[in-house]
Amino acid sequence: MGPVEPADLDSTYFEAAARARLPADIWDFMQGGSGAERTLAANRAQFEHCRLRPRTLVDVSTTDQSLTLLGSRLRTPIGIAPMAYHQLFHPEGEVATARAAGRAGAVMVAGIFASRTLEAIAEAATGPLWLQLYWLRRRDALAAVVERAEAAGFRALVLTVDAPRIGRRLRDARNGFAVPAHIRAVNLDQTLMAASHRSGQGSSGIAEHAREQFDPSLTWADLSWLRERSSLPIVLKGILTAEDARLAAEHGVDAVVVSNHGGRQLDGALPTLAALPEVVAAVPPTLPVLLDGGVRTGTDVALAIALGARAVLIGRPVLWGLAVDGEEGVARILALLKAELDDTLALLGRPRLADLDHTAVARPAGSA
Ligand code: FNR
Repeated sequence: MGPVEPADLDSTYFEAAARARLPADIWDFMQGGSGAERTLAANRAQFEHCRLRPRTLVDVSTTDQSLTLLGSRLRTPIGIAPMAYHQLFHPEGEVATARAAGRAGAVMVAGIFASRTLEAIAEAATGPLWLQLYWLRRRDALAAVVERAEAAGFRALVLTVDAPRIGRRLRDARNGFAVPAHIRAVNLDQTLMAASHRSGQGSSGIAEHAREQFDPSLTWADLSWLRERSSLPIVLKGILTAEDARLAAEHGVDAVVVSNHGGRQLDGALPTLAALPEVVAAVPPTLPVLLDGGVRTGTDVALAIALGARAVLIGRPVLWGLAVDGEEGVARILALLKAELDDTLALLGRPRLADLDHTAVARPAGSA
């Protein structure tokens, strides 16, 4: 990485620069949420409303943000959330993202709709990779992807459970957004993907494709199907309540991600930071709880960890970095967030992640 530039001090630079660079419909697909975008806004607002309670006269000459998660050693609790089609943002796509994640010592969750092959992503990665899955009607295609991921060295499967269908993403519907023909979910049979490339009247290719290919009958009983096909740890992404957290633990999942899909699915759903405490309280302390949605600064990361998250996943800012400068842009975003977290740990008087507990947070007025 070159000398520090003003851009390296502020992630909003990347947001503005990505917007200037991307076609309007791709920007809208990335940045937008569903419905009135209430949940999208609430994810951020929840972080804005929390304040930290710093302790003083603590030796912070050494800070440490490393951890072990599902058996992998990580240099930071900041990971990369699964997102479809990174080639919408840079020609190298997920390969560039994986290289940057490796440089940061961060986990990357690749999406089942990745635009580069699992094998190419694995070859570029120097850090741990997990694979995100949607519950496809074509279970044979799902089984094949799981088998390839395991063979390529992916270390966990992340089943997204908040998407039996696609939320009402009005920006995409207005734009008639479709995935450009030259960008493909290359890990799946193209006959399964055709609808994503067709723009429709008042709908998007993404929504039409999900209607055709996602199986909305998924229930807890189906998790055994995945267990039988893979020995990898299973993570459920999209848990927002104590009830579901308890069921996840009872069904033997290895971790959960408190997520509302970045405000892209159920509009009006709880912001993730507000849902986190009840999820953490509902599962055994040994079961890792991750969080995503609206994490934009090191302060946000510290707040989530103090309220019980073991790690966080970052969505849109990674794509801002990718759009601005490929691998280098993602590396700069991750380096910025890590540096901010390091400062936060020191100034908060909690030099290690294990020192971060609920006493570090002044809760927003009116919250439990
Ligand atoms: C996503 N997300 C997502 N999640 C998932 O499980 N599978 C997927 O294919 C995608 N695709 C996707 C594309 C784009 C463009 C975005 C922005 C998001 C959701 C993602 O994993 C994560 O939950 C949120 O993005 C986290 O919120 P922030 O950090 O973007 O606010």
